[in-house]
Amino acid sequence: MQMSLESLVARGEGIVRLKGKTAIVTGAGSGIGQATALRFAEEGAAVVCADVDAGRNEAVAEEIRAGGGRAQAIKADVTSDDDVADLISGSISSLGHVDILINNAGQAVIGTAEEISGVDWDHQLDVNLKSVYRTSRAIWPHFRAQGGGVILNTASVAGLIGVPGQVSYGVSKAGVVMITKNMALDGAKECIRVNCVCPGWVPTPMVDYHLSLLDEPEAFRARLEGLHPLGLGDPMHIAAGFLFLASDEARWITGIALPIDGGLTCGLNAED
Ligand SMILES: NC(=O)c1ccc[n+]([C@@H]2O[C@H](COP(=O)([O-])OP(=O)(O)OC[C@H]3O[C@@H](n4cnc5c(N)ncnc54)[C@H](O)[C@@H]3O)[C@@H](O)[C@H]2O)c1
Repeated sequence: MQMSLESLVARGEGIVRLKGKTAIVTGAGSGIGQATALRFAEEGAAVVCADVDAGRNEAVAEEIRAGGGRAQAIKADVTSDDDVADLISGSISSLGHVDILINNAGQAVIGTAEEISGVDWDHQLDVNLKSVYRTSRAIWPHFRAQGGGVILNTASVAGLIGVPGQVSYGVSKAGVVMITKNMALDGAKECIRVNCVCPGWVPTPMVDYHLSLLDEPEAFRARLEGLHPLGLGDPMHIAAGFLFLASDEARWITGIALPIDGGLTCGLNAED
């Protein structure tokens, strides 16, 4: 997975689309959030990396700074009202203003309804769904005061179609799709745009961890690949979707759930 600032510049993707913008990325310490923080910084944004894992979060911010970008790390657990309040106020005071909030932090609790405990169910919805409400609510007055802003959420294909053994995860992500649409309607008159992306399976530490629990991870990985007509994706594919939706080119787009899934949700794949 090539995600360094240098590699992006080497690929000639240095058109600066977020110059002067500021962004908060939650779950920035790994995977999709890391790729998004790096890509936004490359496009000129000043980025606040937010993650519950302070070490990895700081490492990503440092990678951005080492590549000539602007970034700082703020440790935050998105299930904590206090942490989220500190994240939003700390970001505003250090950056001067915030234009873009990326609600990406998440976890996957695996299991059927019979298998998942009530505690795990509540935790899944707290991390993946209530967190979006929590951060969005905290930043809303700032967006109103400055005349607008952009909120982007990481949902999932699992929020659009059922996936065996992922009931609480799917419900949390379907909730992310719906909070996106509702907040888009509520925010439109205040120029607050709200969209989400629905990634297919992309190799990240989260996916690697779940594969490692299986008896035959390579066979399952091959099966996952077969579900995507364009093959497995990369965190940078998701970052590219976020970049477009955050940019002024998407100024007339709000309330969408954009699948970035190599064609997974088109229908049955003949390769399955
Ligand atoms: N990788 C995929 O195939 C895939 C597909 C669809 C959706 N997603 C979603 O993408 C998002 C990112 O996932 P990823 O695959 O990059 O996983 P990842 O595990 O690589 O990264 C997730 C990051 O979120 C952080 N995090 C977890 N709980 C947190 C909390 N309470 N507060 C703050 N930070 C927290 C972790 O520390 C980690 O750095 C998640 O919302 C996930 O559900 C991933």
